[in-house]
This record gives sequence, C-alpha cells and structure tokens, in this order.
Amino acid sequence: MSGNRTFSMIKPDAVSEGNTGAILRMIEEAGFKIVAMKKTALTGETAGKFYEVHKERPFYKDLCAYMSSGPIVALILEKDNAVADFRKLIGATNPADAEEGTIRKLFAKSIEANAVHGSDADDTAAQEGSFFFAKTEQF
Ligand code: CMP
Repeated sequence: MSGNRTFSMIKPDAVSEGNTGAILRMIEEAGFKIVAMKKTALTGETAGKFYEVHKERPFYKDLCAYMSSGPIVALILEKDNAVADFRKLIGATNPADAEEGTIRKLFAKSIEANAVHGSDADDTAAQEGSFFFAKTEQF
C-alpha cells in the first residue's frame, strides 16, 4: 500500500467560476478527508517554484502566468492509497482525454486550465504539501 496523503490545488479557473464547493464535495464523497485547506494565491515567482520540474517545457511560462492569475485552494488530503486514488478521481491532464465523471471532465476548460492539480507520487505529495502548509498545520 502506498502512502495515505496527497496534495491538491483547486486552480484559478475552477475557483473563479464558483466550482470550489462542488469539487470539495466530490473529493469528500470519494472518501478523502481534508487534512489542511487554504484559499490563497500564487505569484509568478511562487508558481515558477512550485512547477520548477516543468521549467524546460514549452508551456512553463504560460502555466506560471495562469496559475498566478487568481486565487487557488490548496489542500492536503488523506485516504488509503491517496495519490493513485486521487489521480483516478481527477482524470487525465487533458480534459479531452479524461473519463466521464472525473473532476477534470466535469470542470476543466483546457489542458492548462484543468481545474485541479494532484501530486504524482508520495514524495512529491509531501514536498508540495509543505510548500503551502507548515508542519503544525498538517493535522
Ligand atoms: P498539473 O497536474 O497541475 O501539472 C502540470 C500542469 O501543467 C498541468 O496540470 C497543466 O495545468 C499544465 N500542462 C501540462 N501539459 C500541458 C500542455 N501540454 N500545455 C499546457 N499546459 C500543460
């Protein structure tokens, strides 16, 4: 069994369109417990740090501009097999490829404005959670 925590962000497109509540409901109904939650905003610089792994990719600059274009909701979530189960719940990066009933199929606008982020591994989940939350906030 892999780890029981993952990190997620509800992205600017979903927050600005009023989909935060609907997405949180889907997350809770799928059995995830909200360990930590914060509505905040990234700057171009902090978005650049968060997505540093993609810095050589052609979409990096646009991604940083988009991710700093409005508020986001940062979340640490808990469930058995959290990383893999959450990626199943959100669906493919490109909403055109996402399965019916997934969060991205329902709410994403494009491959960039894809409604939610979900960590891709246990170690990145821990790093990404600590990017937004102090240890004392990760109850
Ligand atoms: P996310 O799961 O947050 O991880 C990296 C993000 O980069 C991804 O969701 C998308 O928002 C964005 N992204 C990935 N691939 C592309 C692409 N080909 N074009 C534009 N944005 C992308």
